[in-house]
Amino acid sequence: MREIAVFGGSAHPALTAEICAYLNVPQRPVLLKRFANDCMEVQLQSNCRERDVFIIQPLVKPVQEHLIELLLMSDAARGASAGRVTAVIPHYAYGRSDKKDAPRISIGGRLVADLLVTAGVNRVLTLNLHSPQVHGFFSVPVDHLHALRELAGHFGNHDLSNAMVVSPDLGYAKSAAAFARRLGLPVAAGAKERISDTEVRITAIIGDVSGRDVIVLDDEISRGTTVFELLERLREEGARSVAVACTHGLFAGDALEKLAAAEGVTEIVCTNSAPVAEHPKLTVLSVAPALAEAISRIHDGESVSSLFDQ
Ligand code: R5P
Repeated sequence: MREIAVFGGSAHPALTAEICAYLNVPQRPVLLKRFANDCMEVQLQSNCRERDVFIIQPLVKPVQEHLIELLLMSDAARGASAGRVTAVIPHYAYGRSDKKDAPRISIGGRLVADLLVTAGVNRVLTLNLHSPQVHGFFSVPVDHLHALRELAGHFGNHDLSNAMVVSPDLGYAKSAAAFARRLGLPVAAGAKERISDTEVRITAIIGDVSGRDVIVLDDEISRGTTVFELLERLREEGARSVAVACTHGLFAGDALEKLAAAEGVTEIVCTNSAPVAEHPKLTVLSVAPALAEAISRIHDGESVSSLFDQ
């Protein structure tokens, strides 16, 4: 395969630039146009022929626009005789739509995976999918990284003598346990039930958090519904302080401000898988080095598994 050609959509230019800097490759230019009828057109303004093309585009707001951009860029690369097209999707938003848990609902996670492949994507590099089964929605190889190393590295500098990791739900307990293991900490999990997009119920915490400095770990924080419900339970159960950590800091609406102001919350930590606003209580850890390393290994045909082993 000839050289790497990295293109970025408009979703997260800062991350694309950082990844290119780590890879020491130029970011290839892309022309995005919108016609009067609102349709988009994409032109990749650099040779793709037989190149190992990587297109960086997290599916963040406005998700539909960024998705179409990614599809069009993939199609353009394929049409320009790319040797291989890898979609680098640090946040795969449609992964939340991963099961038929109500009558007659769509399973967007699966459909979007099919659309990407139809558009010409040969391979996907992603980070912390909402659930493990989403990996299986893709009919092409997927390298599924996590950010536990980055998050644990951050907390490794803290006094953890009284700390405990808490997952808001049992679904994420396995990852929380892997994170806790890295830090040598005990782990607990909430018994969570999602009622709707805006309502969750956590009826109990499995594990004793009384007097503990809790590190809450979740895959994403969107409206903050989950974490606010968990904070209430943690307060009731006598946790001493709470640090909140997640991979995807989406922070819809005023979730970040509200979370930063919540009683007992000492800090908030997320990664730059999605663009995120600045806040004095927020630490943003970069996943660019991990993504760049994975891109480099994919290009060289080397193992990527050491980057995602929990
Ligand atoms: C749900 O299962 C996820 O792990 C997150 O807890 C959820 O996506 C966060 O969304 P929100 O902040 O809107 O509750």
